[in-house]
Amino acid sequence: MSNLTSDARAGALRELATLKGLRVTLVPLGPEHFEPLWTGLQDEESARLTGTTAQFDRETVVTHLRRIGTAADRADWAILHAGTGEYIGEVVLNELDDDNAAMNFRIALLADHLGQGFGTEATGLVLDHAFSALGLHRVSLEVYAFNPRAQRSYEKAGFIVEGRLRDALRWDGEWVDAIVMSVLSTDPRPGAARVA
Ligand SMILES: CC(C)(COP(=O)(O)OP(=O)(O)OC[C@H]1O[C@@H](n2cnc3c(N)ncnc32)[C@H](O)[C@@H]1OP(=O)(O)O)[C@@H](O)C(=O)NCCC(=O)NCCS
Repeated sequence: MSNLTSDARAGALRELATLKGLRVTLVPLGPEHFEPLWTGLQDEESARLTGTTAQFDRETVVTHLRRIGTAADRADWAILHAGTGEYIGEVVLNELDDDNAAMNFRIALLADHLGQGFGTEATGLVLDHAFSALGLHRVSLEVYAFNPRAQRSYEKAGFIVEGRLRDALRWDGEWVDAIVMSVLSTDPRPGAARVA
């Protein structure tokens, strides 16, 4: 579906679908998710793993959450626990390159929910959607070398290592490489556990 028109892709981004898996449900991220999202933004380890140095204030985050609801160049989902409905993280496709049917991927779970398979399932659901409904050809990301859990999760979801950006991040005075990974629509991928 990489021949999807720009208008059709913009429409699918603006009217973002809910994606249902076995263990997680992805719903469009919005102001109603502010409190748990804000909690995640205060987590120092999450900031390190994502290389986030920006300081956010509440008003800026609320404004952002209102804006993304109708954005035609990005897709932001709240990751909800399928059993309890609890917010457990966010997952995002951004940096749309419409001409080349490509987007960037990022994900962050709240600290209590790491290492239990939720992230890999959410990633698979987003990739399924990216290559079907959004008609993308390429989804890429950067992950820091000090984050083997994320690298392993991405590999399980089908991402392939493309290369290494040397000393891409300086964290606490130490240089850290970023690993570039991608999935193409034509790559073989494990099937995501999507529920109709
Ligand atoms: C990255 C993230 C989304 C992955 O989701 P997750 O639910 O924690 O990952 P999963 O449980 O599905 O899979 C983790 C895998 O990494 C493995 N793993 C964990 N720690 C590891 C380590 N130190 N070295 C190598 N593998 C490791 C686990 O064993 C598991 O692989 P397995 O199923 O083959 O055993 C999540 O950990 C997260 O949000 N982390 C904090 C923010 C972050 O790092 N974001 C990504 C920035 S690029």
